[in-house]
Amino acid sequence: MKNIVITGASRGIGFATAQEFLSNGWFVVGTSTSGKVNINDDNFLSIRLNYLNSETVTEAVRTIKNTHKKFTVLVNNAGSARDVLDDPLDIDLLREDIAVNLIGPADLTSRLLDQLDSPSHIINISSMASSLCEPVEESWNIPAYKISKAGLNMFTKTMGYQLENKGITVSSFDPGWVKTDMGGEDAPRDTKEVALELFDLANRKVETGQFWLHGEKRSW
Ligand SMILES: NC(=O)c1ccc[n+]([C@@H]2O[C@H](COP(=O)([O-])OP(=O)(O)OC[C@H]3O[C@@H](n4cnc5c(N)ncnc54)[C@H](OP(=O)(O)O)[C@@H]3O)[C@@H](O)[C@H]2O)c1
Repeated sequence: MKNIVITGASRGIGFATAQEFLSNGWFVVGTSTSGKVNINDDNFLSIRLNYLNSETVTEAVRTIKNTHKKFTVLVNNAGSARDVLDDPLDIDLLREDIAVNLIGPADLTSRLLDQLDSPSHIINISSMASSLCEPVEESWNIPAYKISKAGLNMFTKTMGYQLENKGITVSSFDPGWVKTDMGGEDAPRDTKEVALELFDLANRKVETGQFWLHGEKRSW
């Protein structure tokens, strides 16, 4: 049996991804800020992780290590988007989005490296909004979120380079615009489609340090 850690498994993309891996016979560790995830399955372990509370990160790492399992996939999916559309940059929101979307996943990943198998795959859920080559006026005007996810992309590139000789692939993944609490009701994609794409990417041997959309490399 293979093992995966998915952060932010209580809702949206993370919840659908946890279900996809479980239905394919994986053991899944899923996190939420409360520690509760509405999945009842012997192969599912829910744990508390709130990137705005460093004690929960330490406790989550301890719990994951105590499973004494090696993990083949880590999906850094938990994220927040706190800007109000078209508002100017708010420094407090920037600090919070950087804590949740960049420092948190970087911290968790670094502390879990010993638990990762070789080969294994770290997938960082990024966004079109992070892209430095999309015209700003054609993507969302949510600056704190965009800056934090652009940083996450550089985390993908630098970790991809550093971990390649350990057999660990690191990818950024653009899910498109998805119907979730974050994406809203008007989004064209559903979470199941995204979970299938993530399952496929996680299980493919791909070039490390790249940015993926619909199974193809996309521009940064
Ligand atoms: N939806 C889209 O259109 C879209 C587009 C591009 C990228 N994304 C990215 O896809 C990922 C999943 O988004 P989603 O749309 O599924 O969002 P969502 O439905 O809002 O779910 C967010 C998840 O992140 C967790 N989370 C929030 N704040 C956290 C914190 N401080 N510490 C740890 N976990 C926290 C939540 O846990 P609780 O339930 O406990 O709050 C929840 O499980 C995010 O990284 C997002 O940026 C989404």
